[in-house]
Amino acid sequence: MRNKVIIGNWKMHKNIDEAVTFCKSFKKYSNEMKKHNVLVGVCAPYIDLASIAKYSKDMIIGAQNCHYEDRGAFTGEISHSMLKNIGIKYCIIGHSERRKYFNETSNECNKKIKVLLEDNIIPVYCVGETLEEYEANNTKKVVEKQIKEGLKDLTTKDFDNFVIAYEPVWSIGTGKSASTEIAESVCKYIRDLVAKLISKEASDKVIIQYGGSVKTNNAYDYLHLPDVDGVLVGGASLEVDSFKELASKAL
Ligand code: 13P
Repeated sequence: MRNKVIIGNWKMHKNIDEAVTFCKSFKKYSNEMKKHNVLVGVCAPYIDLASIAKYSKDMIIGAQNCHYEDRGAFTGEISHSMLKNIGIKYCIIGHSERRKYFNETSNECNKKIKVLLEDNIIPVYCVGETLEEYEANNTKKVVEKQIKEGLKDLTTKDFDNFVIAYEPVWSIGTGKSASTEIAESVCKYIRDLVAKLISKEASDKVIIQYGGSVKTNNAYDYLHLPDVDGVLVGGASLEVDSFKELASKAL
């Protein structure tokens, strides 16, 4: 049985005080949820991480990106080993906003994923098509390329702790969530691809999330689909009480 995994992506929200306040009032709840095999938490801005990393034993605490080198002349970047050093256990890779605004490619994502796995940090690898690609009926083609490039050279063992998030770009921050039929069909497609590219065992283990305008009123539907093991949540993860309410829909 796969765990349910619910992650809030705070994007560029919350200063240190706000992040600490959130985690303090969230940790009891997330510990309770663990007993039901539901892992919940947040991926915070870099600047918050050193102050909230200590909550990693209580909840998911992750970064939203990393650099694949250990150190070097990369002004403004944070390395995977710096994240490891402060005890970070999860890291989002290849979010569509990074692909769009920072020209991140799936090949770069692959380099990041490999170093994170070496560091025992769980990658949350994001894939998904744009509105144009969706309307041209190219969803599966786009996702297949992102999966093939992002997961290149990985082995079954790498999927002991691995999250893939399917986030159609047209559903992010728009209030237009994908139907449960679309979410299930693309997440199943991704699982089948992992079986084909890696192994059946890897495809049974990998956690696949849906993301894009997930709110308290639609979370239950996604969280009870056969191939959707969790959700990646933007806006609705910013308030403690409503995020708890959303995550409780996994039960
Ligand atoms: P929203 O939930 O705000 O649509 O954002 C989704 C997202 O990008 C999570 O990574």
